[in-house]
Amino acid sequence: MSIISRSYPIIRKILFSIDAEKVHNLTLSILNKTYKYNFLRKSLHSSINLPSKIMGLDVKNPIGLAAGLDKNGECIDALGNLGFGFIEIGTVTPYAQKGNQKPRIFRLPKANAIINRLGFNNQGIDKILDNIQNNEWQKNNNLLGINIGKNFNTELKNAADDYTYCLKKAYPYADYIAINISSPNTKNLRDLQNKDYLENLLTKIKETHKKLADNYSKYVPIALKISPDLINEEIEDISKLLLKHRIDGVIATNTTISRKKIETLKNHDQSGGLSGAPLHELSLNVIRRLKSLIGQEITIIGTGGIISGQQAREKIEAGATAIQLYTGLIYKGPGIIKECFDMIKENINTD
Ligand SMILES: Cc1cc2nc3c(=O)[nH]c(=O)nc-3n(C[C@H](O)[C@H](O)[C@H](O)COP(=O)(O)O)c2cc1C
Repeated sequence: MSIISRSYPIIRKILFSIDAEKVHNLTLSILNKTYKYNFLRKSLHSSINLPSKIMGLDVKNPIGLAAGLDKNGECIDALGNLGFGFIEIGTVTPYAQKGNQKPRIFRLPKANAIINRLGFNNQGIDKILDNIQNNEWQKNNNLLGINIGKNFNTELKNAADDYTYCLKKAYPYADYIAINISSPNTKNLRDLQNKDYLENLLTKIKETHKKLADNYSKYVPIALKISPDLINEEIEDISKLLLKHRIDGVIATNTTISRKKIETLKNHDQSGGLSGAPLHELSLNVIRRLKSLIGQEITIIGTGGIISGQQAREKIEAGATAIQLYTGLIYKGPGIIKECFDMIKENINTD
Protein backbone atom coordinates (compact mmCIF):
# COMPACT_ATOMS: atom_id res chain seq x y z
CA MET A 1 0.00 0.00 0.00
CA SER A 2 1.42 3.41 -0.96
CA ILE A 3 1.75 6.33 1.44
CA ILE A 4 -1.10 8.12 -0.32
CA SER A 5 -3.43 5.14 0.06
CA ARG A 6 -2.59 4.68 3.73
CA SER A 7 -3.04 8.32 4.58
CA TYR A 8 -6.07 8.89 2.35
CA PRO A 9 -8.67 8.82 5.19
CA ILE A 10 -6.87 11.82 6.75
CA ILE A 11 -6.35 13.54 3.39
CA ARG A 12 -10.07 13.03 2.70
CA LYS A 13 -11.09 14.68 5.95
CA ILE A 14 -9.17 17.79 4.95
CA LEU A 15 -10.42 17.74 1.35
CA PHE A 16 -14.04 17.28 2.44
CA SER A 17 -13.84 20.34 4.67
CA ILE A 18 -13.47 22.54 1.55
CA ASP A 19 -16.09 23.37 -1.12
CA ALA A 20 -16.32 20.39 -3.51
CA GLU A 21 -15.53 22.21 -6.75
CA LYS A 22 -12.72 24.29 -5.25
CA VAL A 23 -11.09 21.20 -3.82
CA HIS A 24 -11.47 19.41 -7.13
CA ASN A 25 -9.49 22.09 -8.95
CA LEU A 26 -6.95 22.33 -6.14
CA THR A 27 -6.38 18.56 -6.11
CA LEU A 28 -5.79 18.44 -9.85
CA SER A 29 -3.30 21.26 -9.61
CA ILE A 30 -1.44 19.60 -6.68
CA LEU A 31 -1.42 16.28 -8.55
CA ASN A 32 0.10 17.99 -11.57
CA LYS A 33 2.76 19.72 -9.50
CA THR A 34 3.77 16.64 -7.55
CA TYR A 35 3.96 14.70 -10.78
CA LYS A 36 6.01 17.40 -12.45
CA TYR A 37 8.51 17.58 -9.61
CA ASN A 38 8.86 13.85 -9.57
CA PHE A 39 7.37 13.03 -6.16
CA LEU A 40 4.89 10.60 -7.60
CA ARG A 41 6.84 9.29 -10.54
CA LYS A 42 7.53 5.95 -8.93
CA SER A 43 4.55 4.84 -10.86
CA LEU A 44 1.81 2.80 -9.26
CA HIS A 45 1.20 1.78 -12.81
CA SER A 46 3.70 -1.03 -13.05
CA SER A 47 2.13 -2.97 -10.17
CA ILE A 48 -1.31 -2.89 -11.79
CA ASN A 49 -0.45 -4.87 -14.85
CA LEU A 50 -3.23 -6.81 -16.51
CA PRO A 51 -2.86 -6.48 -20.28
CA SER A 52 -6.27 -6.62 -21.91
CA LYS A 53 -8.20 -5.35 -24.91
CA ILE A 54 -10.89 -2.70 -25.05
CA MET A 55 -12.67 -2.18 -28.37
CA GLY A 56 -9.74 -3.97 -30.02
CA LEU A 57 -7.14 -1.70 -28.39
CA ASP A 58 -4.40 -2.88 -26.04
CA VAL A 59 -4.48 -1.55 -22.48
CA LYS A 60 -2.14 -2.20 -19.55
CA ASN A 61 -5.15 -2.84 -17.34
CA PRO A 62 -8.91 -2.52 -17.82
CA ILE A 63 -9.48 0.05 -15.07
CA GLY A 64 -10.10 3.51 -16.49
CA LEU A 65 -10.81 7.01 -15.30
CA ALA A 66 -14.37 8.07 -16.17
CA ALA A 67 -15.15 11.32 -17.98
CA GLY A 68 -15.72 14.53 -16.08
CA LEU A 69 -12.81 14.47 -13.66
CA ASP A 70 -10.32 15.93 -16.12
CA LYS A 71 -12.73 17.77 -18.37
CA ASN A 72 -10.04 19.86 -20.07
CA GLY A 73 -7.27 17.27 -20.40
CA GLU A 74 -4.96 19.19 -18.09
CA CYS A 75 -3.90 16.38 -15.80
CA ILE A 76 -3.58 13.30 -18.01
CA ASP A 77 -0.04 12.26 -17.09
CA ALA A 78 -0.47 12.68 -13.34
CA LEU A 79 -3.81 10.86 -13.30
CA GLY A 80 -2.49 8.08 -15.52
CA ASN A 81 0.41 7.66 -13.14
CA LEU A 82 -2.00 6.70 -10.35
CA GLY A 83 -2.36 3.31 -12.01
CA PHE A 84 -5.20 3.66 -14.52
CA GLY A 85 -5.16 1.59 -17.70
CA PHE A 86 -7.00 4.25 -19.70
CA ILE A 87 -8.09 7.85 -19.22
CA GLU A 88 -11.17 9.55 -20.63
CA ILE A 89 -11.16 13.35 -20.77
CA GLY A 90 -14.13 15.67 -21.43
CA THR A 91 -16.98 16.09 -21.94
CA VAL A 92 -15.72 18.52 -24.57
CA THR A 93 -18.07 20.72 -26.62
CA PRO A 94 -17.38 22.67 -29.83
CA TYR A 95 -17.16 25.99 -27.98
CA ALA A 96 -16.04 26.79 -24.46
CA GLN A 97 -18.86 27.17 -21.94
CA LYS A 98 -19.07 28.02 -18.26
CA GLY A 99 -21.69 25.49 -17.22
CA ASN A 100 -24.37 26.03 -14.59
CA GLN A 101 -24.31 28.42 -11.65
CA LYS A 102 -22.22 27.49 -8.60
CA PRO A 103 -22.46 25.69 -6.22
CA ARG A 104 -23.03 22.71 -8.47
CA ILE A 105 -21.25 19.75 -6.84
CA PHE A 106 -22.64 18.29 -3.61
CA ARG A 107 -21.27 15.47 -1.45
CA LEU A 108 -23.42 12.87 0.28
CA PRO A 109 -20.75 11.21 2.44
CA LYS A 110 -23.14 8.86 4.25
CA ALA A 111 -23.98 7.28 0.89
CA ASN A 112 -20.52 7.51 -0.70
CA ALA A 113 -22.18 9.62 -3.37
CA ILE A 114 -22.07 12.92 -5.22
CA ILE A 115 -24.71 14.99 -6.96
CA ASN A 116 -23.42 17.28 -9.70
CA ARG A 117 -25.06 19.67 -12.11
CA LEU A 118 -21.95 21.11 -13.73
CA GLY A 119 -23.45 21.31 -17.22
CA PHE A 120 -20.43 20.58 -19.43
CA ASN A 121 -18.19 23.40 -18.21
CA ASN A 122 -15.15 23.10 -20.48
CA GLN A 123 -12.63 25.12 -22.46
CA GLY A 124 -13.92 24.03 -25.89
CA ILE A 125 -12.43 21.50 -28.29
CA ASP A 126 -9.65 23.68 -29.76
CA LYS A 127 -8.15 24.63 -26.40
CA ILE A 128 -8.48 21.09 -25.09
CA LEU A 129 -6.66 19.65 -28.09
CA ASP A 130 -3.93 22.20 -27.36
CA ASN A 131 -3.78 21.05 -23.73
CA ILE A 132 -3.22 17.42 -24.64
CA GLN A 133 -0.38 17.96 -27.11
CA ASN A 134 2.80 16.17 -26.05
CA ASN A 135 1.29 14.24 -23.17
CA GLU A 136 3.58 11.45 -22.00
CA TRP A 137 0.65 9.14 -21.34
CA GLN A 138 0.00 8.43 -25.01
CA LYS A 139 3.69 8.50 -25.90
CA ASN A 140 4.04 5.56 -23.52
CA ASN A 141 1.37 3.69 -25.48
CA ASN A 142 -1.50 4.30 -23.07
CA LEU A 143 -5.07 4.98 -24.16
CA LEU A 144 -6.71 8.37 -24.13
CA GLY A 145 -10.44 8.61 -24.78
CA ILE A 146 -12.02 11.94 -25.69
CA ASN A 147 -15.63 12.30 -24.58
CA ILE A 148 -17.64 14.70 -26.75
CA GLY A 149 -20.96 16.49 -26.30
CA LYS A 150 -23.05 19.36 -27.58
CA ASN A 151 -23.08 22.99 -26.46
CA PHE A 152 -26.02 23.87 -24.18
CA ASN A 153 -27.51 26.28 -26.74
CA THR A 154 -27.37 23.95 -29.74
CA GLU A 155 -30.89 22.78 -30.55
CA LEU A 156 -31.47 19.05 -30.44
CA LYS A 157 -32.30 18.96 -34.14
CA ASN A 158 -28.78 20.26 -34.83
CA ALA A 159 -27.01 18.23 -32.14
CA ALA A 160 -25.42 15.86 -34.68
CA ASP A 161 -23.47 18.85 -36.08
CA ASP A 162 -21.81 19.45 -32.69
CA TYR A 163 -20.86 15.80 -32.35
CA THR A 164 -19.47 15.48 -35.88
CA TYR A 165 -17.60 18.78 -35.43
CA CYS A 166 -15.87 17.49 -32.28
CA LEU A 167 -15.35 14.06 -33.81
CA LYS A 168 -13.48 15.54 -36.78
CA LYS A 169 -11.29 17.70 -34.56
CA ALA A 170 -10.55 15.05 -31.92
CA TYR A 171 -10.06 12.12 -34.30
CA PRO A 172 -6.31 12.49 -34.98
CA TYR A 173 -5.52 12.75 -31.25
CA ALA A 174 -7.88 10.29 -29.59
CA ASP A 175 -7.45 6.56 -29.07
CA TYR A 176 -11.22 6.30 -28.77
CA ILE A 177 -14.12 8.72 -28.84
CA ALA A 178 -17.02 8.58 -26.40
CA ILE A 179 -20.33 10.07 -27.48
CA ASN A 180 -22.07 11.46 -24.42
CA ILE A 181 -25.84 11.67 -24.84
CA SER A 182 -26.68 10.85 -21.25
CA SER A 183 -25.76 13.75 -18.97
CA PRO A 184 -28.85 14.96 -17.07
CA ASN A 185 -27.36 18.45 -16.76
CA THR A 186 -27.78 19.70 -20.32
CA LYS A 187 -31.43 20.32 -21.01
CA ASN A 188 -33.04 17.57 -23.14
CA LEU A 189 -29.67 15.98 -23.97
CA ARG A 190 -30.92 12.59 -22.90
CA ASP A 191 -33.67 12.77 -25.54
CA LEU A 192 -30.90 11.95 -28.01
CA GLN A 193 -31.19 8.40 -26.69
CA ASN A 194 -34.68 8.15 -28.24
CA LYS A 195 -34.86 5.87 -31.26
CA ASP A 196 -35.38 8.51 -33.95
CA TYR A 197 -32.85 11.01 -32.68
CA LEU A 198 -30.31 8.27 -32.11
CA GLU A 199 -30.77 6.77 -35.56
CA ASN A 200 -30.09 10.17 -37.10
CA LEU A 201 -27.14 10.89 -34.78
CA LEU A 202 -25.43 7.53 -35.30
CA THR A 203 -25.95 7.66 -39.08
CA LYS A 204 -24.19 11.03 -39.23
CA ILE A 205 -21.47 10.00 -36.83
CA LYS A 206 -20.71 6.83 -38.77
CA GLU A 207 -20.65 8.65 -42.13
CA THR A 208 -18.09 11.06 -40.69
CA HIS A 209 -16.23 8.25 -38.96
CA LYS A 210 -15.81 6.32 -42.20
CA LYS A 211 -14.34 9.32 -44.00
CA LEU A 212 -11.98 10.04 -41.10
CA ALA A 213 -10.79 6.44 -40.92
CA ASP A 214 -9.99 6.59 -44.67
CA ASN A 215 -8.32 10.02 -44.51
CA TYR A 216 -6.12 9.19 -41.54
CA SER A 217 -5.69 5.49 -42.39
CA LYS A 218 -6.46 4.87 -38.75
CA TYR A 219 -9.52 3.34 -37.10
CA VAL A 220 -10.47 5.10 -33.86
CA PRO A 221 -13.23 3.18 -32.05
CA ILE A 222 -16.40 4.93 -30.95
CA ALA A 223 -18.33 4.26 -27.74
CA LEU A 224 -21.79 5.52 -26.79
CA LYS A 225 -22.32 6.60 -23.19
CA ILE A 226 -25.81 5.89 -21.92
CA SER A 227 -28.00 6.63 -18.92
CA PRO A 228 -28.89 4.29 -16.05
CA ASP A 229 -32.49 5.55 -16.14
CA LEU A 230 -33.47 3.83 -19.39
CA ILE A 231 -36.35 1.35 -19.38
CA ASN A 232 -35.88 -2.10 -20.91
CA GLU A 233 -37.58 -1.17 -24.16
CA GLU A 234 -35.21 1.79 -24.60
CA ILE A 235 -32.17 -0.39 -23.91
CA GLU A 236 -33.42 -2.79 -26.59
CA ASP A 237 -33.85 0.02 -29.12
CA ILE A 238 -30.39 1.37 -28.34
CA SER A 239 -28.82 -2.09 -28.61
CA LYS A 240 -30.35 -2.62 -32.04
CA LEU A 241 -28.96 0.69 -33.23
CA LEU A 242 -25.52 0.00 -31.76
CA LEU A 243 -25.41 -3.26 -33.70
CA LYS A 244 -26.84 -1.77 -36.87
CA HIS A 245 -24.31 1.07 -36.93
CA ARG A 246 -21.42 -1.08 -35.75
CA ILE A 247 -20.59 1.08 -32.78
CA ASP A 248 -17.55 -0.36 -31.02
CA GLY A 249 -18.43 0.16 -27.39
CA VAL A 250 -21.02 1.25 -24.89
CA ILE A 251 -20.25 2.99 -21.61
CA ALA A 252 -22.85 2.04 -19.03
CA THR A 253 -23.57 4.31 -17.34
CA ASN A 254 -23.67 8.02 -16.69
CA THR A 255 -25.20 9.50 -13.49
CA THR A 256 -28.84 8.97 -12.46
CA ILE A 257 -31.70 11.33 -11.71
CA SER A 258 -33.14 8.77 -9.30
CA ARG A 259 -32.90 9.53 -5.57
CA LYS A 260 -33.81 6.03 -4.32
CA LYS A 261 -31.90 4.97 -1.19
CA ILE A 262 -30.80 8.51 -0.34
CA GLU A 263 -34.14 10.22 0.34
CA THR A 264 -33.29 11.07 3.94
CA LEU A 265 -29.78 12.40 3.37
CA LYS A 266 -28.61 15.99 3.31
CA ASN A 267 -28.32 17.28 -0.27
CA HIS A 268 -30.51 14.49 -1.70
CA ASP A 269 -32.86 17.16 -3.06
CA GLN A 270 -30.20 18.98 -5.09
CA SER A 271 -30.94 18.67 -8.79
CA GLY A 272 -28.40 16.98 -11.03
CA GLY A 273 -26.88 13.58 -11.63
CA LEU A 274 -26.23 11.22 -8.74
CA SER A 275 -23.04 9.15 -8.83
CA GLY A 276 -21.38 6.77 -6.40
CA ALA A 277 -22.62 3.80 -4.39
CA PRO A 278 -26.41 4.27 -4.86
CA LEU A 279 -25.86 4.06 -8.64
CA HIS A 280 -24.14 0.67 -8.68
CA GLU A 281 -27.23 -1.59 -8.91
CA LEU A 282 -28.91 0.59 -11.53
CA SER A 283 -25.82 0.53 -13.77
CA LEU A 284 -25.37 -3.17 -13.17
CA ASN A 285 -28.89 -3.88 -14.41
CA VAL A 286 -28.25 -1.90 -17.57
CA ILE A 287 -25.02 -3.84 -18.17
CA ARG A 288 -26.78 -7.20 -17.70
CA ARG A 289 -29.53 -6.19 -20.10
CA LEU A 290 -27.01 -4.92 -22.67
CA LYS A 291 -24.96 -8.10 -22.43
CA SER A 292 -28.00 -10.26 -23.16
CA LEU A 293 -28.79 -8.11 -26.21
CA ILE A 294 -25.39 -7.42 -27.76
CA GLY A 295 -23.40 -10.46 -26.62
CA GLN A 296 -19.72 -10.32 -27.50
CA GLU A 297 -20.10 -7.97 -30.45
CA ILE A 298 -19.81 -4.68 -28.63
CA THR A 299 -17.46 -3.87 -25.75
CA ILE A 300 -19.23 -2.88 -22.56
CA ILE A 301 -17.41 -0.49 -20.24
CA GLY A 302 -18.97 -0.67 -16.78
CA THR A 303 -19.19 2.65 -14.97
CA GLY A 304 -21.28 3.74 -12.02
CA GLY A 305 -20.98 3.33 -8.28
CA ILE A 306 -17.78 1.33 -8.06
CA ILE A 307 -16.69 2.14 -4.52
CA SER A 308 -15.00 -1.19 -3.78
CA GLY A 309 -13.27 -4.06 -5.53
CA GLN A 310 -16.36 -6.21 -5.03
CA GLN A 311 -18.46 -3.81 -7.11
CA ALA A 312 -15.80 -3.83 -9.83
CA ARG A 313 -15.99 -7.60 -9.93
CA GLU A 314 -19.79 -7.51 -10.18
CA LYS A 315 -19.53 -5.20 -13.20
CA ILE A 316 -17.17 -7.62 -14.93
CA GLU A 317 -19.33 -10.63 -14.03
CA ALA A 318 -22.36 -8.81 -15.44
CA GLY A 319 -20.64 -8.50 -18.82
CA ALA A 320 -18.32 -5.50 -18.75
CA THR A 321 -14.88 -5.92 -20.33
CA ALA A 322 -13.47 -2.91 -18.55
CA ILE A 323 -14.55 -0.52 -15.81
CA GLN A 324 -14.26 3.19 -15.11
CA LEU A 325 -14.08 5.04 -11.80
CA TYR A 326 -14.92 8.53 -10.68
CA THR A 327 -16.74 8.88 -7.35
CA GLY A 328 -14.91 5.88 -5.88
CA LEU A 329 -11.64 7.72 -6.43
CA ILE A 330 -12.96 10.72 -4.48
CA TYR A 331 -14.17 8.60 -1.54
CA LYS A 332 -11.45 5.94 -1.41
CA GLY A 333 -8.43 7.65 -2.99
CA PRO A 334 -6.12 6.09 -5.57
CA GLY A 335 -5.94 2.85 -3.53
CA ILE A 336 -9.30 1.94 -5.11
CA ILE A 337 -7.52 1.20 -8.40
CA LYS A 338 -5.38 -1.55 -6.87
CA GLU A 339 -8.37 -2.82 -4.89
CA CYS A 340 -10.35 -3.22 -8.13
CA PHE A 341 -7.38 -4.83 -9.84
CA ASP A 342 -7.02 -7.42 -7.07
CA MET A 343 -10.70 -8.32 -7.30
CA ILE A 344 -11.01 -8.56 -11.08
CA LYS A 345 -7.70 -10.03 -12.17
CA GLU A 346 -9.02 -13.61 -12.29
CA ASN A 347 -12.12 -12.60 -14.23
CA ILE A 348 -10.40 -10.75 -17.05
CA ASN A 349 -9.81 -12.44 -20.35
CA THR A 350 -6.32 -11.38 -21.37
CA ASP A 351 -6.45 -12.85 -24.92
C1 LIG B 1 -18.58 15.85 -10.83
C2 LIG B 1 -18.86 14.92 -11.99
C3 LIG B 1 -18.75 15.38 -13.29
C4 LIG B 1 -19.01 14.53 -14.36
N1 LIG B 1 -18.87 14.99 -15.64
C5 LIG B 1 -19.07 14.13 -16.67
C6 LIG B 1 -18.86 14.57 -18.01
O1 LIG B 1 -18.47 15.71 -18.28
N2 LIG B 1 -19.11 13.70 -19.01
C7 LIG B 1 -19.53 12.40 -18.77
O2 LIG B 1 -19.71 11.63 -19.72
N3 LIG B 1 -19.71 11.97 -17.52
C8 LIG B 1 -19.48 12.79 -16.47
N4 LIG B 1 -19.66 12.34 -15.20
C9 LIG B 1 -20.15 10.96 -14.99
C10 LIG B 1 -19.02 9.97 -14.73
O3 LIG B 1 -18.16 9.88 -15.84
C11 LIG B 1 -19.59 8.58 -14.41
O4 LIG B 1 -20.26 8.08 -15.56
C12 LIG B 1 -20.57 8.61 -13.28
O5 LIG B 1 -20.15 9.49 -12.26
C13 LIG B 1 -20.76 7.22 -12.65
O6 LIG B 1 -19.55 6.71 -12.15
P1 LIG B 1 -19.14 6.85 -10.60
O7 LIG B 1 -20.31 6.42 -9.77
O8 LIG B 1 -17.93 5.98 -10.45
O9 LIG B 1 -18.81 8.28 -10.37
C14 LIG B 1 -19.41 13.17 -14.11
C15 LIG B 1 -19.51 12.73 -12.79
C16 LIG B 1 -19.25 13.58 -11.73
C17 LIG B 1 -19.36 13.05 -10.32
